[in-house]
Amino acid sequence: MSSNVVISGGTSGIGKMLVKLFLANNMNVLTFSRKQSNINSLKKECSEFSKNLYCYQCDIGNIKSIDLISKEILKKFKKIDFLINNSGTNTIGPIEKINIKDWKNIMDVNLTGPFYLTQKVLPLLKKGSLILNMGSLASRQGFPGWSSYCSSKFGLKGFTESLREELRPKKIRVVHAEIGATDTAIWDNLDGDWNKESMMKDSEVAEVIFRNITIKGSVNVDELFLMPPAGIL
Ligand SMILES: NC(=O)c1ccc[n+]([C@@H]2O[C@H](COP(=O)([O-])OP(=O)(O)OC[C@H]3O[C@@H](n4cnc5c(N)ncnc54)[C@H](OP(=O)(O)O)[C@@H]3O)[C@@H](O)[C@H]2O)c1
Repeated sequence: MSSNVVISGGTSGIGKMLVKLFLANNMNVLTFSRKQSNINSLKKECSEFSKNLYCYQCDIGNIKSIDLISKEILKKFKKIDFLINNSGTNTIGPIEKINIKDWKNIMDVNLTGPFYLTQKVLPLLKKGSLILNMGSLASRQGFPGWSSYCSSKFGLKGFTESLREELRPKKIRVVHAEIGATDTAIWDNLDGDWNKESMMKDSEVAEVIFRNITIKGSVNVDELFLMPPAGIL
């Protein structure tokens, strides 16, 4: 029986590359994001896998929206082999200028959403299933102007580490990926002079993640820390 994969934010960047890898390896993939245009492009790009790809509109920052997508997931799949909490957002700026709405949105999307989606679909995660939460260099280090993003990603790391211990008895693996700068759309709305040429490629980041989470046997990669050869950009 082929594996079932749920990936949040699989319509762009690292998530999209993961979707393509799972599909190419004969797995069923359910993904979602907010923008219909992104959903349409993904469906078009992956049309040869249309029977194995389910792609919906859902805002992971909105509890009602997660309730709806969870119902859909429970309808489509009897079990989930891989749950990838990938979707994420960022806004940067000095503490004086952080708008409380933006702060709350980052927490909702990067922290509360992954928690709530995991809770809702937990009944489908069985012995041998794997959860991957997408962290960042900003899960382990602070940067000026990045306090809201860093707080959300540090929080996600705490959630991930607790979840790993909690789910060990059920033999569900929990992986935290800490990713350095990767050339994706997430940088496009951030003020700054970003050196995109020195960043990692989303396809290569996805490939390394895929290889490490599909290992079978006695080894679990609890943590992945991937950085561009140039280091912190
Ligand atoms: N790129 C980097 O340098 C880097 C480094 C470290 C960690 N990361 C993390 O890697 C993950 C993927 O980011 P990326 O770089 O691949 O960015 P990306 O290209 O911007 O992709 C983000 C994906 O998440 C979706 N998304 C954003 N907000 C959402 C929401 N509220 N509800 C549902 N879906 C939402 C986006 O689609 P819609 O816009 O259609 O919603 C898109 O599919 C994120 O968690 C990010 O924090 C990235």
